[in-house]
Amino acid sequence: MLDVKDLRVRFRTMGSLRALVKGKKDPFIDAVLNVSLSIAPGTTLGLVGESGSGKSTLGRAIMGLTKTASGTVTFDGRTLIAPGLDRSQEIRAHSAMMFQDPISSLSPRLRVRSLIAEALKIRNWPAGKIDAEVDRLLSTVGLPASLRSRYPHQLSGGQARRVGVARALALQPKLIIADEPTAGLDVSVQGELLNLLHRVQQDTGCALLFITHNLSVAQHFCDQLAIMYLGRIVEIGSAADVARHAQHPYAHGLFSAQPYPDPRRRRTDIQLTGEVPSLAQRPGGCDFHTRCPKAQPRCGREIPLLGQAVPGADVACFYPETTACHAAPQDVIMAVNDEGSSRDDRSRGEVEA
Ligand SMILES: Nc1ncnc2c1ncn2[C@@H]1O[C@H](COP(=O)(O)OP(=O)(O)OP(=O)(O)O)[C@@H](O)[C@H]1O
Ligand SMILES: [Mg+2]
Repeated sequence: MLDVKDLRVRFRTMGSLRALVKGKKDPFIDAVLNVSLSIAPGTTLGLVGESGSGKSTLGRAIMGLTKTASGTVTFDGRTLIAPGLDRSQEIRAHSAMMFQDPISSLSPRLRVRSLIAEALKIRNWPAGKIDAEVDRLLSTVGLPASLRSRYPHQLSGGQARRVGVARALALQPKLIIADEPTAGLDVSVQGELLNLLHRVQQDTGCALLFITHNLSVAQHFCDQLAIMYLGRIVEIGSAADVARHAQHPYAHGLFSAQPYPDPRRRRTDIQLTGEVPSLAQRPGGCDFHTRCPKAQPRCGREIPLLGQAVPGADVACFYPETTACHAAPQDVIMAVNDEGSSRDDRSRGEVEA
């Protein structure tokens, strides 16, 4: 459904005159660099990485909300974003974006009813049936019909996120980009929201790009995981493989740092320390080499490209980790669907002893 190739997003960090005065040759940062990924219909790709790694920028770029410097976005078989081409409105017409900040991303002058009705109108829903459908959707996402006359600023964060899900249900999108949809919610509400997203996906067969900081949720909710560091994807693969056997030292460190309930379990020796470098001063060679306990001289000289550093492996590292990272299955906060045949259960059953 979605195919992203070599996408790059550059932000100007200062005006050209100021850069000239300051003698700065390159007043740009690459917030997203050489990113390639694909999401098949009905599947979920989890995007994980530290704050500032470029997750939201990538999501916005795919929707055409942030200008891309190079690369292509192919949606439903058609290339709609490419150098000199921007037909991103066709992506937005068939997609739903749940922004990181749920309240300010909803149009402030529209009441909840109109926000959802707008999505139904896009699908040419018969005018006389819109009100009943809005109420049905509100009840599906666990919101009382009385909320239909509220403005976004009168909603709590959790309620605003549910309105986002109701809009997604109304749109029946082919793609949903959910940017930290569970951030700041109570654990029980997080679980409900994930169930709702899962239900939308089952109903519509849409592809889902799920941006999160929660590794446990990422590992159990997603089919594939992509790990981002300083704007690049450093590892991508099936969620179970990445969570248990992450090969990139950064990804390995992330998953190893998760709490694990078994004291007999030996901890990995990769621990993430040090500051994330500034995008304005990207280190030469591998972006991670300044923090990597396994770094060799080559890592400071050459950039390890995904799929090339180690032929055939989807990891951007010359010296990938080969041990298991002991990802903990205990911190599971959702039962993904009501029938009990969730990905969560599947993967929990698969977690090795
Ligand atoms: N409009 C902009 N102009 C300049 N720099 C920007 C802009 N938007 C984002 N950035 C920079 O791009 C980088 C990536 O930001 P982004 O919001 O994508 O990170 P993120 O991974 O979503 O972080 P978080 O987990 O905190 O949400 C950051 O260094 C940020 O400061
Ligand atoms: Mg973000």
